[in-house]
Amino acid sequence: MNKKLKIAILTSGGDAPGMNAAIRAIVLACNRYNYDCIGVYHGYNGLINADIAKLKIEAVNNIIQQGGTLLKSARCPELRTKTGVQQAINTLIKEQIDALIVIGGDGSFTGLLAIAEQWRGQVIGLPGTIDNDLDGTDYTIGFATAINTAIEAIDKIRDTANAFDRVFIVELMGRNSGHIAFNVGVACAAEQIISFENFHPSQAEDKLAELAEEIYAEQKSKDNSYLVVLAENLWPGGAMHLAEQLKEQFNIDCAACVLGHIQRGGSPVAKDRILATKLGVGAVQAIKVGKSLLMLGERDNEIVEVALSETIKHSKTVNENLVAAQQNILALTARSN
Ligand code: F6P
Repeated sequence: MNKKLKIAILTSGGDAPGMNAAIRAIVLACNRYNYDCIGVYHGYNGLINADIAKLKIEAVNNIIQQGGTLLKSARCPELRTKTGVQQAINTLIKEQIDALIVIGGDGSFTGLLAIAEQWRGQVIGLPGTIDNDLDGTDYTIGFATAINTAIEAIDKIRDTANAFDRVFIVELMGRNSGHIAFNVGVACAAEQIISFENFHPSQAEDKLAELAEEIYAEQKSKDNSYLVVLAENLWPGGAMHLAEQLKEQFNIDCAACVLGHIQRGGSPVAKDRILATKLGVGAVQAIKVGKSLLMLGERDNEIVEVALSETIKHSKTVNENLVAAQQNILALTARSN
């Protein structure tokens, strides 16, 4: 007979819509195999402080449609210290946990690898971040919802921008990657996308002049709004500073809007619920057959297992065809050639 396993789950780092769907799937799969499922609260802090409780299936009723995370999330600077890692491991040992599933992004997986170096239990990561910046999976849980939320918000901004023929700069999340900004920019027909794929901060001066010229030309030739979608952590000083520079140096009035944490909330779209559910079930099945040190992801619609250490290298780029289409066909500069 198979050993009755005790599997712990935690959610860590920036929450992402679909984390609850993944938790639900893990709890249901554990129930199916008669494993104990233990919830760890507030990310890795819950391991350090032994803030844990058994998760029964009743706890995951009616959560598939909810954003946020039932288990709460947190960033945990202590896990970057030897003492923090040891305290986390002490709890895993004391509670006789056989396997730990972490739903989070690159920081969360780095923490998981630190634990795995000194703990003999099995560790599995599930990609849960709106940023889509983990390697080895086409999409992360939460990305589809986040871009949809941003698109809906920007469509509303476009209405008011159109009413006033106004220039808007909208700054989007993504940390140090442009998956959100570039995809949303294309989907909202932004006149300019300033993202990691097509811009480096050293080009700021040239870009500013190009932007001013294009805005003048656009607004002179026709009544029109003009939308710039900007990735966060890219333009020196961010959207507000860009707006100030356009005003001060070129007398262009524009409204800056930092969309912010609205992109992290909300009910997950179908794609995130389904991805999270497949990966949650897959994680428990991987543990059942003794696997460890893996992230489960999805590539070309197939579940894949990727070495955890390979997922945090930040080599996944925005689809090249999309970048080329924007650059060569969709952008205003391409259209006016
Ligand atoms: O990683 C998710 C994310 O929302 C990033 O897009 C963003 O840069 C960061 O987290 C914001 O983190 P916090 O909520 O801790 O400010």
